[in-house]
Amino acid sequence: MGAPYIQPRQGSISHPLRIAVLISGGGSGLLALLNHQHSKPTTHITKLIISDNENAKGLQYGDDFQISTIAINLPQSHDRVQKRILHENIIHERLIESNIELIVLNGYMRILTPEFVKKWKGRLINIHPSLLPKYPGANAQRDALEDGATITGCTVHLVDEGVDTGKILAQSEVPILQTDTIEILQNRIKEKEHLLYPKVLDDYCAHQSIQR
Ligand code: GRF
Repeated sequence: MGAPYIQPRQGSISHPLRIAVLISGGGSGLLALLNHQHSKPTTHITKLIISDNENAKGLQYGDDFQISTIAINLPQSHDRVQKRILHENIIHERLIESNIELIVLNGYMRILTPEFVKKWKGRLINIHPSLLPKYPGANAQRDALEDGATITGCTVHLVDEGVDTGKILAQSEVPILQTDTIEILQNRIKEKEHLLYPKVLDDYCAHQSIQR
């Protein structure tokens, strides 16, 4: 559906793909990725961290790992559509300036417009805290609990023009216990996310079939 996915070039240890990580909050997924990239030679390297919120705790990891960070707040405008477009245009410019080859959404809480997605499709990847297509949207853990599900999980997928509808690359299951609160479940899912996402990136960047 929509524009085709265009995969980035094949990354290698000697010439890793240049990644930008987009966050909005705590950045535990970002930290897991940075630790992974520092634990061994990888086919990708984080060159830029962008947050849509200048108070995002995750921005501190940029300082810790000496990676450029930018907070890009939503610009002032009464027109909501115009605001989103302006915001994404600034992000796009920063990505191009830094020669970014792959965007990794890692707890980025804004929905990107189809116009932005088209420019990066195949080079734009996301992790979602459910087994898609179940429980898309911003409240996946709450929705799974309210549904009485006993299993949920996380999904790494390419981003398309829809919301959490892009091509699925890999999933990991997580049990739901009767005593779970949203927070407990969120944390259990994050543990799996922190293992799955870096591995999927290793394979996707190396043009290898995805191993779980
Ligand atoms: C993760 O659960 C991710 O799946 C979702 O947002 C959460 C981000 O957490 N999109 P953190 O900011 O990485 O701690």
